[in-house]
Amino acid sequence: AHKQKQDDYELLGKISQFYQKNLKTHADSKTVIDYLKGRGLTGEIVKQFGIGYCADSWDDMMNVFGNSSQNSKQLVDLGMAIQGDKNRPYDRFRGRVMFPIKDKRGRVIGFGGRVLSDGTPKYLNSPETRIYHKGQELYGLYEARQHCKNLNRLVVVEGYMDVVALAQHGINYAVASLGTSTTEEQLQTMFRTVKEVICCYDGDRAGREAAWRAMDNALPLIRDGISLKFVFVPDGEDPDTLVRKKGQQEFEKILDEAKPLSQFLFEHLLSQVNVGSLEGKAALLESFQPYLQKLPDSTLKDSILNELANKFGTGSEQQLAKLNKNQSPAQ
Ligand code: UTP
Ligand code: MN
Ligand code: MN
Ligand code: MN
Ligand code: MN
Repeated sequence: AHKQKQDDYELLGKISQFYQKNLKTHADSKTVIDYLKGRGLTGEIVKQFGIGYCADSWDDMMNVFGNSSQNSKQLVDLGMAIQGDKNRPYDRFRGRVMFPIKDKRGRVIGFGGRVLSDGTPKYLNSPETRIYHKGQELYGLYEARQHCKNLNRLVVVEGYMDVVALAQHGINYAVASLGTSTTEEQLQTMFRTVKEVICCYDGDRAGREAAWRAMDNALPLIRDGISLKFVFVPDGEDPDTLVRKKGQQEFEKILDEAKPLSQFLFEHLLSQVNVGSLEGKAALLESFQPYLQKLPDSTLKDSILNELANKFGTGSEQQLAKLNKNQSPAQ
């Protein structure tokens, strides 16, 4: 099994090289390079992230890497080729800009591929395989660590292009959670590396909902000394379009002013009740309950309880005692 995995990493590494070479030598080269330039990327950044191109063909990759039945099975196992009904497997990725996804040691474990124009799906990703587990990996983490050995914060974004565009503008500490909402495992990974994580998702409904889910997933991990913060980009924008408009300095200023978890929590829950009445205050305390239950004991938790007591008159000693008693044991 160890040998198998070594083989897998090696094969995907070679395919990544092949895609990168295509970018320079394929007949479509100019179109693809113009596309990347149009998105504001320089050759240097394209190289830093190993971005490549797969031809619009059913067998370009298979012809080079799938010449024995053993090899072609491996390509199917790794999600690079698709086994049709009877015929030999064909290339999964066709006519796309290819982003290699690396693990923390820099080994290629999968790919994301973007169409050049407006076909669907816009992005095609490697499926789960024996070496690629979506909810565990973070796109761009290896590159961020390569760039700076002592990271002090990480920005989590939704997309490949957001990570790459931020790096293009000198913000070399962004990672993407790869289509899923940011998982507890991914948050854990980030908090093992840095003390501050800033979620900066797209300025649309999906992005705002992703922020709330990330907050919920992070609660069990919060302890003194680490912090999760949120940046809400304007509607219709994403970190890529925003950094291109604002530039590094202004974007980093926005990051510096990110909203702390506690503020996000209070604003969101306060917006759902009317605290002008005792009923409203009771409802507020009630709505805090599931979140407080997930939050381990910490100075932050004490402060939240104090704030509830002092500002909203909720949380009399009896109420707070009840809240703490209801805490479910750690799962
Ligand atoms: P977005 O639709 O916001 O894409 O999806 P984007 O990154 O801003 O793309 P550009 O700027 O048009 O190139 C965010 C992320 O969700 C996943 C990808 O990881 C993408 O980067 N996604 C999106 C998919 O996996 N498949 C899709 O069809 C679309
Ligand atoms: Mn898995
Ligand atoms: Mn989006
Ligand atoms: Mn986007
Ligand atoms: Mn985008």
